[in-house]
Amino acid sequence: MSFFNNKVVIVTGSSSGIGKSLAFKLGEQGAKVVINSRGGEKLEQVAAEMSGKGFDVLAVPANVGKLDECRQLVETTLKHYGRIDVLINNAGANMHGRVEDTDPEVLHLPLEINYLSALYMTKFCLPALKESKGGVMFVSSLAGIHGLPINAVYSSAKMGLRALAECLKAELTGTGVYVGIAYVGITENEQGKTIYNGRGEKFVRPDFKMLGMQSIADVADDILWMIRTRRFKHVFTFPGKLQAFLNSFAPGLVQYLLTKAYLRRYNNGW
Ligand SMILES: NC(=O)c1ccc[n+]([C@@H]2O[C@H](COP(=O)([O-])OP(=O)(O)OC[C@H]3O[C@@H](n4cnc5c(N)ncnc54)[C@H](OP(=O)(O)O)[C@@H]3O)[C@@H](O)[C@H]2O)c1
Repeated sequence: MSFFNNKVVIVTGSSSGIGKSLAFKLGEQGAKVVINSRGGEKLEQVAAEMSGKGFDVLAVPANVGKLDECRQLVETTLKHYGRIDVLINNAGANMHGRVEDTDPEVLHLPLEINYLSALYMTKFCLPALKESKGGVMFVSSLAGIHGLPINAVYSSAKMGLRALAECLKAELTGTGVYVGIAYVGITENEQGKTIYNGRGEKFVRPDFKMLGMQSIADVADDILWMIRTRRFKHVFTFPGKLQAFLNSFAPGLVQYLLTKAYLRRYNNGW
């Protein structure tokens, strides 16, 4: 029987990309899956497709960057299923632009979507997770290992997740609650994936190919493997592992390479 069979799992940001893949894989493995996004057609479509396959799914629209909406998402889950076994803090969005060019009114956006969402959701889920001796997963990025130029606020948010995961792991010692953080590497885009520009407007991220890129499905499999095996941290992809290694032993080289690669791409219109 699958590890996730009958477990109640919340996946934030699961109307597309990695979150959507996680939701389907969890459904296939017998979990009761709470899917989420800010709402709309895509979320309804994922819920309908999952129900059509006979999966147990509950769709809860909520902007997880907002405290009250996180509280509501957790309350709705508990009302419907009565327990929470796993929280996967997956919702996220990038913002491209130099800090000096970014509108100060939108600087908070990546922090809300990538960091505060995980903090709020975890805070509200903790009593239920302690009861179920369940687990919480934070979906970070290579931007959480070394700051990526042109991605400053996103990187700051993903680095914040590391501190949060490390502190929680210590605070939850002896409770049986698992904590994990996934440093996801460069992943193939879902077609039409949007990110923010420095004015806070969404635009479709141009598709690109890179050596060592992982598929969305493989990333989802690796995240579920981490939870099953209670692995605290994992750096995804060979380029990611190399970056993490060099970051410890030759941080100046990492800074040089990232500066060259990202500024060149940015100056060429990305
Ligand atoms: N793809 C990569 O290359 C990559 C690499 C490293 C790390 N990651 C991380 O992996 C995670 C998933 O990325 P992805 O590429 O799969 O992203 P994606 O395809 O853009 O999907 C993001 C999901 O989050 C939802 N979302 C965004 N803001 C939200 C909010 N405030 N409240 C609730 N839901 C929200 C989106 O739906 P709505 O917009 O409709 O709300 C969507 O369902 C993110 O944390 C990302 O930082 C991705």
